[in-house]
Amino acid sequence: MLKGRREFLATAAAMGAISLMPKYSLASGAADNTIRVGVVGLGTRGTGAVREALMADENVKVTALADIFADKMNAAVEKFTGGKYLKDGLEKRFDVPKERIFTGLDSLDKLLATDVDVVLLCTPPVFRPYEMKKALDAGKHVFAEKPICVDAAGARYIENEVVPLAEKKGLCIAVGTQGRHLEGFVEGINRLRDGQIGDIVSAQAFYYQSSYLEGWSMPKRMDPEDMEFQIRRWLAFIWISGDQYVEQHIHSIDAAMWALGDIEPVEVSGFAGRDASLTWPYQGDRCSHFSVDYDFGNGLHLGSFCRQENNSYNMPYYVRIHGTKGMFEMPLIGNARISGEKPWVGAASNNAAGQVAKQKILYQAMRSGKRLDNSKALLNSNWIAIAGRESAYAGKKFKYGWIKQSKQDFLPGGKFDLGKRPLTPVPSPSTYKLV
Ligand SMILES: NC(=O)c1ccc[n+]([C@@H]2O[C@H](COP(=O)([O-])OP(=O)(O)OC[C@H]3O[C@@H](n4cnc5c(N)ncnc54)[C@H](O)[C@@H]3O)[C@@H](O)[C@H]2O)c1
Repeated sequence: MLKGRREFLATAAAMGAISLMPKYSLASGAADNTIRVGVVGLGTRGTGAVREALMADENVKVTALADIFADKMNAAVEKFTGGKYLKDGLEKRFDVPKERIFTGLDSLDKLLATDVDVVLLCTPPVFRPYEMKKALDAGKHVFAEKPICVDAAGARYIENEVVPLAEKKGLCIAVGTQGRHLEGFVEGINRLRDGQIGDIVSAQAFYYQSSYLEGWSMPKRMDPEDMEFQIRRWLAFIWISGDQYVEQHIHSIDAAMWALGDIEPVEVSGFAGRDASLTWPYQGDRCSHFSVDYDFGNGLHLGSFCRQENNSYNMPYYVRIHGTKGMFEMPLIGNARISGEKPWVGAASNNAAGQVAKQKILYQAMRSGKRLDNSKALLNSNWIAIAGRESAYAGKKFKYGWIKQSKQDFLPGGKFDLGKRPLTPVPSPSTYKLV
């Protein structure tokens, strides 16, 4: 059981997201108060992030774009310049001439050589830790979409290389879990902190999706061992996405961990499986459902469940927190609410507003001179997600401390090319090795 308010405040202070920036200046040296934004990875999220950047701050300009694949870039640019997607004045602050559109393996490096102040990282997450470091090395503030890593090596790289560098250089890091910005969730968490559901006794995090997510384009006649195939179908491959458990369910795990005060479990045990209709390797090596129990000691448990399977019940992003006096629910669809001794119904989730809000705090921090780094809480959730996935693949129960020692490294040094990448089998407890 997690005791009320004092325990929360102690962990919240330890997570301290905001510290004073010694001196703030825009990398471009712009005198006109404009923040220049570069976006990397122009798929679904990157395309959304461009518009949200322009909505989040009226002096933001999007000035550079990067994507590994020219066809993805062309589709995005067509959308931005077509007059329907960016309108009502937003299009005037989309200022990306051909010279600042970069494609190919070194597209990020080229974008970082421009005078952007901030980079929005919206590529598949295995690349994120290394992209964050490169951006900070180049003196840019960072917005990093969730998840921010997919394995222990990536998580440690963020802890040891990325976060200290940002601190040393006085640069901001904002991360991309919009749940922590949804109005109803925020008010509900405040009520929970004030004891409205009593002491917390258990929690459950769900993400049920009624379809497989696979990546948008299915390259024909391409060998699945080609990196290009795997990058295009990244959602289906564990090494690049972290599997749905880390890639998508992190939203629910993060909201639950927020409610629990961003603590760490003591023990983890889970299992996972894969719908027999999925073909290997064309539909990747990932699992299609997971169930994980996190034991926090003192009798407190988080039950964590996710699924992506065609024709199944849809319940995206839903979290329940049970207390001695009531229950708090955080749904992506519908209203945040508390039932029990002091019932309350909060605002309905507005995901679009959350997407804008998670960038807005970055631009506000940059302008105010108060350095923002809110990566610590998400990194904690990210570690917890990685631990749960590994326990589920192996069908083993382990002490949480084990994951911090794990040697798992899907992309050593962040290095890759478009050659071959050997395929790995679907994880099974009979063969899966914890490393
Ligand atoms: N917060 C949210 O609600 C939310 C929603 C969707 C996706 N996401 C996250 O955003 C990220 C991107 O997801 P998406 O759905 O937009 O994927 P996507 O496949 O639609 O887009 C990814 C883009 O990145 C490009 N790319 C891949 N590797 C690259 C590299 N090394 N360098 C440059 N470009 C590269 C691809 O060509 C593609 O255009 C993921 O981390 C995902 O988890 C967050």
